[in-house]
Amino acid sequence: MLEARALSKDYATPAGSLPVLRDVDLKLSRGEAAAIMGPSGSGKSTLLHILGALDRPTSGEVTLDGSNPFALDERQQAAFRNRHVGFVFQDHFLLPQCSVLENVLVPTLVADSRDGFEPRARELLDQVGLSARLDHRPAELSGGEKQRVAIARALIRDPLLLLCDEPTGNLDRASAAKVVDLLLDLHRRRNTILLVVTHSLEVAGHFSRRYELTERSLKAI
Ligand SMILES: Nc1ncnc2c1ncn2[C@@H]1O[C@H](COP(=O)(O)OP(=O)(O)OP(=O)(O)O)[C@@H](O)[C@H]1O
Ligand SMILES: [Mg+2]
Repeated sequence: MLEARALSKDYATPAGSLPVLRDVDLKLSRGEAAAIMGPSGSGKSTLLHILGALDRPTSGEVTLDGSNPFALDERQQAAFRNRHVGFVFQDHFLLPQCSVLENVLVPTLVADSRDGFEPRARELLDQVGLSARLDHRPAELSGGEKQRVAIARALIRDPLLLLCDEPTGNLDRASAAKVVDLLLDLHRRRNTILLVVTHSLEVAGHFSRRYELTERSLKAI
């Protein structure tokens, strides 16, 4: 279960404190999926980063299956993220010099044992339809294919929480629909908590739970 309670975030800027989130509450159980919409600058990425322990809230609490990542030191926090959270960003952030297969294996480089990860990477790449592209470099892939590699990479350690920040923002309609179907399919199979930020009503329409972030708070829509 992902639980956020009374999350607030203010950025410190030269012009003073900039309030972005106020008292945001969110509860998602294992197996639940939700879409978050909202105008540009409303704080969607900020919220996603806090939920994935990439950034700290100014106040409030986040727990994932009862543990609070912000109570950990920086190293433990990085390990927590690596183990329990998968991120997919609008820009895929693949390593250009690595092959598709190597890119998917990147999050396992810090694992105690790498046993079993390569077959798993191959299986995931098969599930995202890229079995025939294992040795391609990112520059040799289409936009949708790169995003599918990023999804396989986000799932390699079987995270409890999968956070996607405009994963289809750079894709045409047909590729976007495919990526969303794929995310929902993998989410069902692996019983993750899936949270997707999107500007597209069409993408949000695939989710039974939808929220809008406006005026610094999160409302169910
Ligand atoms: N590191 C930062 N320091 C100061 N202000 C920031 C910082 N990051 C974001 N902001 C501000 O916080 C607000 C929320 O930003 P955020 O990136 O969360 O918006 P968003 O909803 O994801 O927007 P978009 O849809 O354009 O991606 C914006 O007004 C932005 O200018
Ligand atoms: Mg954003």
